[in-house]
Amino acid sequence: KVQETVEQPNITIEVQGHRGDRGNFPENTIPAFLSAVKKGADVVELDVVISKDGKVVVSHEPFMSSLYVTTPSGDSITKETERSYNLHEMTYDSIKKFDTGSKGNKNFTQQQKMHTYKPLLEEVIDSVENYVKANNSKPVHYNIEIKSEEKEYGISQPHPTVFIDMVMEVLTKKSIIGKMNIQSFDPAILNEMHKKYPQVTLAYLTAKPGIDSNLSQMDFTPSIYSPNYKLVNEAFIDSLRQKNMRVIPWTVNNDEDINRMIQLKVNGIITDYPERVLSKL
Ligand code: G3P
Ligand code: CA
Repeated sequence: KVQETVEQPNITIEVQGHRGDRGNFPENTIPAFLSAVKKGADVVELDVVISKDGKVVVSHEPFMSSLYVTTPSGDSITKETERSYNLHEMTYDSIKKFDTGSKGNKNFTQQQKMHTYKPLLEEVIDSVENYVKANNSKPVHYNIEIKSEEKEYGISQPHPTVFIDMVMEVLTKKSIIGKMNIQSFDPAILNEMHKKYPQVTLAYLTAKPGIDSNLSQMDFTPSIYSPNYKLVNEAFIDSLRQKNMRVIPWTVNNDEDINRMIQLKVNGIITDYPERVLSKL
């Protein structure tokens, strides 16, 4: 059964700010999301995890990454110790005390350094919606990734069904179901989402080639296929269009790759540098 897809006779390419405006601000933070929206991104892409006290927290890792986080007392976190800070075993009050922006991120040298923290999902939505309202700007959509991979990180995580319900509770309370989609690398999350919340648009994330074998893990055909951009070529796009799926690759940052994705007429581009994509459309 194919999920309902919005017809797109003239393909427009939506610009998705990956973890906000990650090229320029600390990732998955309020300043990064507001910057993406101010630049004109159509969508903010973000990742969520669950705290010990059941809060939906915006974070790429379910732990405190040594790459960009410092402890409340200003100490560095090492690669060896980072997974001992399991966000699912920490209350949100304690998570919020960790600084996610002062250290910077060596992979993003133009990123502004600032003292900031991991926000709640509802706080991100409130900040974006308040900005849109105050500035009478275009509506912003949300691409929300459920980071559930216990196998990948080897630390305990909430059960997928519990995870999904917690996220959906926030999204329902904030009345944004009509302008968001859920994405996941985990077929179990997407299948469960489709069963429990069939009205929600879903995106299948993958870094693996083999569209048919990937989709064979699904109980349904999601609206969106979100591959690593390196997998995308004309035949790949044709194959997905035949399945009535939209193609939204990640994470496309350099000019040559952005141009190639535009030429291939993908439906959206997830990028750490929304201004680069916007300047080419
Ligand atoms: O939305 C796609 C992209 O965000 C998936 O990769 O690791 O950046 O969450 P990752
Ligand atoms: Ca993501």
